[in-house]
Amino acid sequence: MKKGKKLYEGKAKIIYATSDKNLVIQYFKDDATAFNNQKKSTIEGKGVLNNRISEHILSNLSQIGIKNHLVKRLNMREQVIKLVEIIPIEFIVRNVASGSIIKRLGIEDGTVLKEPLVEYCLKDDALGDPLIAEEHIYAFEWASKKEIEKVKKMILRINDFMIGMFRGVGIKLIDFKLEFGRLKINGNDEVILADEISPDTCRLWDSITDKKLDKDRFRKNLGDLIPAYTEVAKRLGILHEQSNVSAVNVTKLSSVKKKHK
Ligand code: TMP
Repeated sequence: MKKGKKLYEGKAKIIYATSDKNLVIQYFKDDATAFNNQKKSTIEGKGVLNNRISEHILSNLSQIGIKNHLVKRLNMREQVIKLVEIIPIEFIVRNVASGSIIKRLGIEDGTVLKEPLVEYCLKDDALGDPLIAEEHIYAFEWASKKEIEKVKKMILRINDFMIGMFRGVGIKLIDFKLEFGRLKINGNDEVILADEISPDTCRLWDSITDKKLDKDRFRKNLGDLIPAYTEVAKRLGILHEQSNVSAVNVTKLSSVKKKHK
């Protein structure tokens, strides 16, 4: 597949055109940002790990019938994905209260929620992705009721699947963010999952120790982000148990692959 011109550069990914107008290439960068771009850094090897972890989760979701944008992983940093029209909403799914909700509502960190809570944020960096009510989505026609009903059903299935998958490897799924996009499939309008799912977009705590295995290591200056993401990949069976993936190894792997392209 031929990589065309850069279409879009986000905080952690770059999108390139391909020779097929319906497909694009998604490149995972090593850049990390938090608090709407106020905190920035580059963490060598993060993109490689997120590419692999996201591929694993989206492939598994596909197998249980959750349509998503992943076509295939191309190499250590790139995936071919379907081009969709993104619904401008970030869907936040919470099983345990942590992060912004505990500050906003004065809830104790780690409070287990009786049932999953879905929050909506408008996808607008200039406004700082503000929290909105479901009614705002219809008032401003960001999505239709039918689309949101479909999305909500998908979200609950994705959450159930991911809770089980992570529980099986000793990890608690605290919360995560999802985005969805519109696509025509056989002449019908469909809504599909169109986002990475990785430790950048989830909160993941070790089941026994509550150790943070996600981007909170960066947000809260806890250090050791690469070992934590590597631990997630190993537990999911993506990396061999004995392989000791340091940032340097990941980068080496990535450049070896590039040379052979
Ligand atoms: P929050 O507690 O900061 O609202 O984040 C909730 C979850 O959503 C957490 O797992 C991080 C993820 N998230 C993103 O992936 N991107 C974002 O822009 C934000 C604000 C949160």
